[in-house]
Amino acid sequence: MKATARATSNIALIKYWGKRDITFNLPATGSISVTLDGLATTTTVEFDEGCESDEILLNGAPAGDAGARVTKFLDLVRAKYGVSAHARVETHNDFPTGAGLASSASGFAALALACNEALSLGLPTPALSALARRGSGSAARSLLGGFAEMLPGTSPDGADAYAVPLADPGHVPMNMLIAVTSSGPKKVGSTEGMQRTEETSPYHPAWVAATTQDLDAMRRAIADAVLEEIGTLAESNCLRMHASMLGARPPLLYWNSATVAAIHTVWGLRERGIGAWFTIDAGPQVKVICSPIDAKAVESALRNTPGVTDVILTAPGAGASIVESVS
Ligand code: DP6
Repeated sequence: MKATARATSNIALIKYWGKRDITFNLPATGSISVTLDGLATTTTVEFDEGCESDEILLNGAPAGDAGARVTKFLDLVRAKYGVSAHARVETHNDFPTGAGLASSASGFAALALACNEALSLGLPTPALSALARRGSGSAARSLLGGFAEMLPGTSPDGADAYAVPLADPGHVPMNMLIAVTSSGPKKVGSTEGMQRTEETSPYHPAWVAATTQDLDAMRRAIADAVLEEIGTLAESNCLRMHASMLGARPPLLYWNSATVAAIHTVWGLRERGIGAWFTIDAGPQVKVICSPIDAKAVESALRNTPGVTDVILTAPGAGASIVESVS
């Protein structure tokens, strides 16, 4: 009845920003990501008939707002699999929570896997990925290692909306450097931000159309392991997502001045002949893709960028795993 799982963040190369259904949390388009070897969440779940309500600790303290999302997810698991017990959940992130470092991705992937183990549900990976999606769309991809594609599916209940593997972590030799420009929580979360964009940005339909084309191109670029193509597509797709956010009312701008400075650093590196490309999620951090050969030069350029407070070096990594299981 007790299990601990570990999952790492994934960063989308082709983004998910919009839903075809809110109840089942179904994405409007597919997305393609790379799961990282760092930025880990470790979560222990213990279902206990003696617990009167769910007890949720995040980094050792009561979880607050994030706890409400966990309870909602546990309610769903209980209803779906006929479980009555409440749970004690202890979760630790080894990176800043809620600041655009994909803590909900690693968090709900670890939680779904720990629930599967603690309750002996025996779900196969696609079903587990679809379950994690109910917590957070991007979490569906963190169950898998390396490069993964989230399928939007067509079924109304999302049974076919899950992530599938595209390539192993070592298939494309690359690093992803994360330039941290702020460690505070973001003002508008992804769920609210994408809904606002869908409802108010005139650029949203164009974003959906462009993403569908980008998915085909990215699938090919990953299969051929062409880093320049992967980076070029990822950077363009990210900018188009942010362009559609800027068109929302009220507008959504997740960047700060250091975010913009880091963009110029990356473009400056390219002018000097160093292959580096950025992607940015719903937060101010800048994630930079480059070849391992160039990682030192890219790291030093990012560290020298005004407003960048830290640089985290990551690479493609393995999928979520069970750390411990006690029955
Ligand atoms: C910009 O997965 O956090 O990181 O499903 O509403 O929880 P919900 O959204 P979430 O959105 C991630 C948005 C993104 C792009 C991406 O990871 O694909």
